Amino acid sequence: MDVNAWWQTGVIYQVYPRSFQDTDGDGVGDLDGIRRRLHHLVDLGVQAIWISPIFPSPMRDFGYDVSDYCDIDPLFGRLANFDALLADAHAAGLKVILDFVPNHTSDRHPWFADSRSSPNSPKRDWYIWRDGKPGGAPPNNWESEFGGSAWTFDQVAGQYYYHAYLKEQPDLNWRNPQVQDAMCDVLRFWFDRGVDGFRVDAIHHLVEDEDERDNPANPDWRPGMPPADRWLQTRTVDQPGVHECIKLMRHVADRYGNKVMIGEAYLPIDQLMAYYGADLSGFHLPFNFHLISTDWQPRAIASLIETYEAALPQGGWPNWVLGNHDRARVASRIGPAQARVAAMLLLTLRGTPTIYQGEEIGMQDVPIPPSLVQDPFERNVPGLGLGRDPVRTPMPWTSERHAGFTEGQPWLPLNADADVLNVARQIDDPRSMLSLYRALIRLRGNEAALSVGAFRLVHVDDHVLAYERRIADQRLLIALNMTDRVQVLRPPRPACEALLSTYLDHPDPLRDDIHLRADEGLILRTLPDVA
Ligand code: GLC
Repeated sequence: MDVNAWWQTGVIYQVYPRSFQDTDGDGVGDLDGIRRRLHHLVDLGVQAIWISPIFPSPMRDFGYDVSDYCDIDPLFGRLANFDALLADAHAAGLKVILDFVPNHTSDRHPWFADSRSSPNSPKRDWYIWRDGKPGGAPPNNWESEFGGSAWTFDQVAGQYYYHAYLKEQPDLNWRNPQVQDAMCDVLRFWFDRGVDGFRVDAIHHLVEDEDERDNPANPDWRPGMPPADRWLQTRTVDQPGVHECIKLMRHVADRYGNKVMIGEAYLPIDQLMAYYGADLSGFHLPFNFHLISTDWQPRAIASLIETYEAALPQGGWPNWVLGNHDRARVASRIGPAQARVAAMLLLTLRGTPTIYQGEEIGMQDVPIPPSLVQDPFERNVPGLGLGRDPVRTPMPWTSERHAGFTEGQPWLPLNADADVLNVARQIDDPRSMLSLYRALIRLRGNEAALSVGAFRLVHVDDHVLAYERRIADQRLLIALNMTDRVQVLRPPRPACEALLSTYLDHPDPLRDDIHLRADEGLILRTLPDVA
């Protein structure tokens, strides 16, 4: 493997296209909008954009219900707009990663129409059709991620079909080689057009237990938790056959060279590691979401990093994520002051960082009044705070009307403080979150210790996390104060230069002890070993 592939040294940025930039006034972002804002991404310093689904879709799950894998939804543009975006991105030095949704199609996909039309359809077995139990109940207790049975009875077909998510998202049957071939053709279609990789959706759901046994009850489930968590998903998630399917996808990518395959799997670390595949024949980057779910506390984070680093397979490249379009925003989870510390953590850990659009300006979750709810998860299971609209609101670009996102009515409300919390304001503010992200990404690009150096934990207590990144005789110390009080740290070796503070000012003169201000993260150069 190339030691310094672009997806190892660079930073990935997730674009949620509905909410990035609208250009045609319909209140929903589009491909020309992404194109128009590419300079923001270039200024930020990221290497690649991953764009959430842009394919034709009835939008029941906002693009994660695909009705044609090889075209663009008119809401976002046409194939010509995509080609123009790809060309401009490449010309600007940016790679483009698309979202591949292999687990399920839309119920409006022609494959599903064909499949349900008759038991003799050549595509019948492309989906998972079963008879109910005697008496008519669903075949087993499998529950949809979005609430309710994962089996829906179809009158036309006269059978139940399985859907891990909405009933409008029937699961494909990946045990069928024709499905495998058809979906690999989809990857080829986009690779041939020039895309640089895929983020592969919901991969842990791809295959189900062959004997279709019930999931066992989860003894820890309490009301208020997601309905699917009532069961331990031992029969519906992370089943052995999945790795052969991932290998097929990876094989397609490898034929093109210099591509990246990223897998979305919410799994414990030991299970996640299998997604690198035997001899690294799986994903280049199985997404590591554990910073999202781990307590924001130095010892917990240190233990996460060490556990993850220790579990990586030989040659497996790490990666880190603070948020995405499905989870509460980091600035809401830990507060705006600590979000700056989190940015430093994300961009100084060993492994590829992924930034979710809006994190770079410190966006927080936006409360959505019930009448404006869009997300089917919130509609199906209201009131539990599971809805994802609050993290999907439009990017505030300027202090103008609708924050420069659209000239129409935005599909979700802007953040209430968009007149002050927006990109334009932060560009001009040398201490802003945006300035911090830019400084961190620039430093990461200039210091090989940060992008490809080794990691070593040097200190952890209840307040401070400190670690070293090192390559050859270059050593950087990262010290993160995870409290709102001053902390003092005695570094293992003297610091000789302060490179960056999350305060973006000139840090205190160096002393033997490092003084960390409230909520401060510091990157310091330390002395090389004396030979
Ligand atoms: C993934 C997506 C999420 C979607 C689900 C079903 O988890 O990130 O947004 O709802 O898959 O496709």
